[in-house]
Amino acid sequence: MIAPSLLSADFARLADEARRVADADWLHVDVMDAHFVPNLTLGLPVVEAIQRVSPIPLDCHLMIEAPERWAPGYAEAGSRNVTVHAEACSGDPRAVARDLRAAGALAGLAIKPGTPLEDYLEVLAEFDTLLVMTVEPGFGGQEFIADVLPKVSAARRLVETGHLRLFVEVDGGVNEDTIVQAAEAGADVFVAGSAVYGADDPARAIAGLRERARTAAAARAR
Ligand code: DX5
Ligand code: ZN
Repeated sequence: MIAPSLLSADFARLADEARRVADADWLHVDVMDAHFVPNLTLGLPVVEAIQRVSPIPLDCHLMIEAPERWAPGYAEAGSRNVTVHAEACSGDPRAVARDLRAAGALAGLAIKPGTPLEDYLEVLAEFDTLLVMTVEPGFGGQEFIADVLPKVSAARRLVETGHLRLFVEVDGGVNEDTIVQAAEAGADVFVAGSAVYGADDPARAIAGLRERARTAAAARAR
């Protein structure tokens, strides 16, 4: 799946920007609180407004402190998937996953580049999505960190061997080149901000990314 990130869109025209990526699978919305990350974007009222106009399901990526308190609201707003950061959870992240699922959303757990996957293997049994950050969270337009790909491969192996049932999502620095590496490693959801909204034709950019990911995933399966 391709999930364009609204972070790289024109914030003065969010409805139009959401419609420009109607060919994609999920619309990725980066919520930042200026505490968990050094940047501030938008919150629940704006997500509710986007939800009303988006042609595709929302994938909310919460880069915020106290996700146990705030995340369920994003699920109740109708998001398809709501992802919280493992590093931001003060208690067991499984409690957040249960609340998200009870509110009708898929539950996602994100890990920063320096956070080991092994610390969360048991917890992940109750999640639907693992978001492996391929940049430090906070800003769009950064360079892809290929060093985190072993975490993607490890997660894919756990899915293939039946130990986990998860989407494996990558976020940060994904473009036509790096998406190949991520797909070869086993990712199946690809967030792309600048590569989609920075392109003259976002629909073409989405088709190009999808094609590159499909080819790489097919090569991996052989
Ligand atoms: C970064 C955000 C990403 C960002 C990706 O903290 O989580 O979703 O929008 O933007 P690009 O694709 O430009 O790296
Ligand atoms: Zn994101």
